[in-house]
Amino acid sequence: MKNLIKHLVLIFVLNTQVLPNGFKFVAMSDSRGPYNGVNDSVLSKLVNHILTNQHGVKFVVFAGDMVNGHEHDPARTFSELMHWKDVMGPIYENENFVWPKVWPVVGNHEIRNGKDEDNFRRAFPDVFGNGPDDEKGLSYSFDFGNSHFVVVNTDRWYYGDPEDTTDDRRDWHYVKHLDWLEKDLAEAKKRNVKHIFVFSHEMGFPTGGHLHDGLPNLGRNFVPPLDSTRIWYLERRNKFWNLLKKYDVDAHICGHEHLYARQSVDGVYEIITGSAGAPLYEFNPRYREDPDTVYPGEEMSYEKAVNYYKVLKYNYGPGKNSQASENFFGLKAFNYTVYDVQDEYVLVETYGGFLKKGTSNVLGTGIKLIDKFYINKNK
Ligand SMILES: [Fe+2]
Repeated sequence: MKNLIKHLVLIFVLNTQVLPNGFKFVAMSDSRGPYNGVNDSVLSKLVNHILTNQHGVKFVVFAGDMVNGHEHDPARTFSELMHWKDVMGPIYENENFVWPKVWPVVGNHEIRNGKDEDNFRRAFPDVFGNGPDDEKGLSYSFDFGNSHFVVVNTDRWYYGDPEDTTDDRRDWHYVKHLDWLEKDLAEAKKRNVKHIFVFSHEMGFPTGGHLHDGLPNLGRNFVPPLDSTRIWYLERRNKFWNLLKKYDVDAHICGHEHLYARQSVDGVYEIITGSAGAPLYEFNPRYREDPDTVYPGEEMSYEKAVNYYKVLKYNYGPGKNSQASENFFGLKAFNYTVYDVQDEYVLVETYGGFLKKGTSNVLGTGIKLIDKFYINKNK
């Protein structure tokens, strides 16, 4: 009852704030690393950069894979999450940010053991309990200012056997409660919100490093034709994206791939703001003369990737970007994204830094503006 009252009071506070000049929020993702499960060094530098340079930010949404996690030791995962909160301490302690300061999103690294969903709820008790019955504390939504925010769990625990290394269903990602999502989006539209942002860890359109999974989930070593399982996942991804289109969602903001990428797919932006410290990835292989060579850092050869591009309907071939849309832009950079939310538009600015030569997870440059674009509601 105490929690319910707290939530009702906070819903009132969040929904009645006077924000005449819009507001800003930050999204970031994927900070797992070698120091008690976290890349302390890169994450701290990004956090300090936010606090020093971004004024008017009200909260951070962190799109999963905060920590490494552990398949056999859920206590260790919990301890890593506590350590992650310590590294994020300057934001949690900053009075300019509003409750709960950081909105958490479940990533596959947080859910590696049957006890991990409860771990996550225990580590992050301050979220709204309005999600589906079996995803309370993992999926939820709220209004802030003129906008609606939905956090969708795409990394459910599969109640399989963690000892069985041949069972890869634990790596299969999907949105289970599309009905809950649709009801939530429809209700938001009835409230006439100006913008809707949907968050999950897994992306709808893989851009590199995870061509084999994310929501399409084609699996490793995919060769056509599609089997019934793959068709099911693809259709599930399509239904998810169709909902975002139907309800005029501004952007799906996610991580999982350790890079920065954004593209508008059928009028809805997908923004992958994924690496706040996790080892950086290369993008999908582009057309090349030696198609069967796997280049360092790439997930697979171009030749093998074409099997995926055909099914995913990507642009590929000479001069193409091997992505879901022509307006794709991406950089192999540690990054965070800032959203300046006004009634008529959202200005997105991305700040990032690049690798130290010869490393995969060490920041070797300063952090600067690396992308800037508008999501225009009059599109
Ligand atoms: Fe991930």
